[in-house]
Amino acid sequence: MTRPSATQFCEIDLDALKGLSGKIACLATPEGGLDAAGRRLNRLSKGAVDRALGSPAWEGLNAGDVMVLAYPAGMSAEAVLLLKTERRVTAQAARRAGAKLRVAAGKSELHICAGNFARSADLALGVVLRGYEFGDHKSKTPESYGSVTLYCSKPDEIATKAAPLLALAEGVFFTRDLVNAPANVLTTTSFAEQLSDLAALGVKVEVLDEPALEKLGMRALLGVGQGSESPSKVVVMEWMGAGDAQPFALVGKGVVFDTGGISLKPAAGMEDMTMDMGGAGVVAGVMKGLALRKARANVVGLVGLVENMPDGRAQRPGDVVVSMKGDTIEVINTDAEGRLVLADVLWYAQERFAPRAMINLATLTGAIIIGLGHDNAGVFANDDALCAAFLKAAKAEDEGAWPMPLDDSYDDLIKSRIADIKNTGGRPAGSITAAKFLQRFVKKDMPWIHLDIAGVASIAKDSKYAPAGATGWGVLALDRLIQDMFDEG
Ligand code: BES
Ligand code: MN
Ligand code: ZN
Repeated sequence: MTRPSATQFCEIDLDALKGLSGKIACLATPEGGLDAAGRRLNRLSKGAVDRALGSPAWEGLNAGDVMVLAYPAGMSAEAVLLLKTERRVTAQAARRAGAKLRVAAGKSELHICAGNFARSADLALGVVLRGYEFGDHKSKTPESYGSVTLYCSKPDEIATKAAPLLALAEGVFFTRDLVNAPANVLTTTSFAEQLSDLAALGVKVEVLDEPALEKLGMRALLGVGQGSESPSKVVVMEWMGAGDAQPFALVGKGVVFDTGGISLKPAAGMEDMTMDMGGAGVVAGVMKGLALRKARANVVGLVGLVENMPDGRAQRPGDVVVSMKGDTIEVINTDAEGRLVLADVLWYAQERFAPRAMINLATLTGAIIIGLGHDNAGVFANDDALCAAFLKAAKAEDEGAWPMPLDDSYDDLIKSRIADIKNTGGRPAGSITAAKFLQRFVKKDMPWIHLDIAGVASIAKDSKYAPAGATGWGVLALDRLIQDMFDEG
């Protein structure tokens, strides 16, 4: 398990600056304005800070960028980091600046002189989120990120603001660890075990095994997993922080590996399909975050855990399966498996919990990457109010999300000759037909959003808040939505 770096908030002792180890950051306005700590660092360094702030290089930096003064004279620290920022900025700007500070500081212990900077909690969150490395499978455990100390004028106030954010960071790291894990390690069984461990935090966890799923009639989900040695499972997590209020439901696609099945994927890039459980990973991270921050909300999280493998017993193209809902599905392409899994879990979530609203997350289609790239998840909603609330939450949390259409006209593309529906509609509007397929398993008056996170769950390059690999996209936005809409406190 990757732990976020230890973070503390305290008042500054200007006389102690000289002897601090690690790296010291201070905030400077674009015009080069410093607070008392910055002025002290300037004095200790015999004016090096002021010279840096007067340089063309400083002028060329953008707001939120960092300039590094390495091994400055007059103090023990390895570097002084100058963060170019106004004193009043948005939460997003503060988080992005924090992430840049972490990159500039490397793994060193980091001391940030933030003074009366109002967004210090967000600054800390940015530092912590960017200080992630997935080291589980290095024979030599990588050095961990050093501690973060934020010196501020009202440390107690900032610490109180930061506490829930740092709890959420643990949720984000949980998601990232799950999404980064290889499929021989994160099997359906070990995934379910890791989710069961959330019980220690007060989450009620129930694991439904194949006989139970068979009894419920989840033949669409079971068909996907029947070619794998790993047993299919549905895990139900309940965080009931608000008495008997009707819950909000999150549903995640948890395909621990997607070979495509008999409709086998090409070899090139297939290794990326270890992240095809990204939707389930986000649901897990949100549940962990809710429990750690003791959210006053009722949220149920359900994930369908399967492995899509080719095998003598695997499902074939042309097979017809009966979903739990009762609708029959013609499986045209066994690689369009996520929607088959979600069809049954979405239906089960509604039958069992009658939630107030439901959001599913899935690395569902390659087509959404063609449409939106890696900057935005696709947002497909049947309810304008819920959709607007989610988009607002995602914007506030600096997680890209963009609305997509869900017109009934697309339904024609997934009509089947021999069954009620087929699981692919060909190349045109591939992400939308996938969403329309899911919608068939959403009850008429159920406010619902499908988030296609294929492009944002894991990215080959470093992103704003994460190094290359899993991002944890969505944990913060969904938590914000829950705070905005379902908090009973
Ligand atoms: N897991 C994939 C989608 C995916 C692709 C996720 C790339 C992340 C990165 C999904 O199960 C899939 O294979 N979708 C097919 C659907 C097609 C067969 C209709 C796709 O997108 O090609
Ligand atoms: Mn697939
Ligand atoms: Zn898949």
